[in-house]
Amino acid sequence: MAQRETWTSRVGFIFAAVGSAVGLGNIWSFPFQTASNGGAAFLVVYLLAVFLIGFPTMLIEFVIGRRSKQNAVSAFSELGYGNWTFAGAIGVFASFITLSFYSVVGGWVISYIVGSVTGGYLGQAGTFFGSISSGTVAIGAHAVFMAVTIAIVAGGVADGIERATKFMIPAILVLLVGLAAWGSTLAGSAAGYAYYLSPDFGVIASNFTSIVPSAMGQAFFTLSLGFGVMIAYASYLGRDDSLPADSAIIVVLNTVVALLAGFAVFPILAATDALTGSTGAGTAFVALAGAFGQLPAGQVIGLVFFVVLLFAALSSSISLLEAPASYVVDRYDVARPKVAVGVGLVSFVIGIVPAYGYVGLFNDFVFNILLPIAVLFIALFAGWVANRESIDELGRGTALGQGATTLWLWWVRVVIPIVVAYTLYLGVTNFYTGLTTGAYF
Ligand code: TRP
Repeated sequence: MAQRETWTSRVGFIFAAVGSAVGLGNIWSFPFQTASNGGAAFLVVYLLAVFLIGFPTMLIEFVIGRRSKQNAVSAFSELGYGNWTFAGAIGVFASFITLSFYSVVGGWVISYIVGSVTGGYLGQAGTFFGSISSGTVAIGAHAVFMAVTIAIVAGGVADGIERATKFMIPAILVLLVGLAAWGSTLAGSAAGYAYYLSPDFGVIASNFTSIVPSAMGQAFFTLSLGFGVMIAYASYLGRDDSLPADSAIIVVLNTVVALLAGFAVFPILAATDALTGSTGAGTAFVALAGAFGQLPAGQVIGLVFFVVLLFAALSSSISLLEAPASYVVDRYDVARPKVAVGVGLVSFVIGIVPAYGYVGLFNDFVFNILLPIAVLFIALFAGWVANRESIDELGRGTALGQGATTLWLWWVRVVIPIVVAYTLYLGVTNFYTGLTTGAYF
């Protein structure tokens, strides 16, 4: 076999990882979760989750990936722990389930592209979301989004899309900064900033058990942790790169995009009196489409915005399809295009359920249950099972001494498992309550 490729540059790796991290999670899910969980109260817990749990967890995936030079499933056996491959397999399963509802939301983006052309959402941002977010329109758009994802993966042109993501990140940043600046000029925007930015610690205390699992789930989802993708990406990384430095850049960039989305969405929502309305999963779409309805040349800006968002969503969805597809290719030795079509079709069929109005159900299943389980296992693996030699991969290419690695190791051993196990307990409890009280139905 040919020598394993490595990223041609450190920047290439960072772009790929940021491309995976930045997506609907930042622009759709983050404002939605923040709005549904008390605004700034959620933001505080979310930022703690990202930096105290997400960042060190990303380092675990990077260590496992670069050390083993394997994908998430083979990584564990390569390191000598064949009976831990299930930990990688959970991530593959999470990718597959995530794809099914991610594609539904990707379909919403397609409907907003159409709406930008026809002017369909102008002056009626709320009604428009209601008309495209579930039912036959949603299923049709979900089919289109999935078909494009399948075509890219089956056609082997994913590299081209990943190259396109280099333009996508700066484009998203520019558009969000522009929208945020415009939003700040709106009368009534102050209430939006207050809701978004000034935490009420009483709200955190009284909603602690629902904020924590949502914030942790959002942190894992947006950083693409627990899916095994970061293991796979790091497997191509050269030995002289600093994992902590790369991870810090990725985490910060991803957080900046999410925070900017909030800076765009909340003042606009407040200015249009939609802050208190229950926009739920429509939060970001309703706010942004409302803005495009008022801006000069709003339809053009809207079109550009939703096209860029579509690229961000596609760069994530192809990676979500590739994970289960390569798993099947490796195991059963079937041709890749066929597998991509097969796996994509099954995911499409499963996605019909969220497209009927159950995005929240799927979202919470992944956020509250699958991701904490996946992260819990990889933390237990790195903390208590993997040998010290593997763990020392953290320090390679850095000036960090053994002491820093040991500190991180104890964090991974004790703090992450306790926090994530507690999160999982809350997440399962909330999910069960949601099911039995009919909150999802
Ligand atoms: N982080 C992506 C987003 O915020 C979503 C995502 C989760 C993802 N897991 C992934 C993307 C795996 C690519 C691969 O939209």
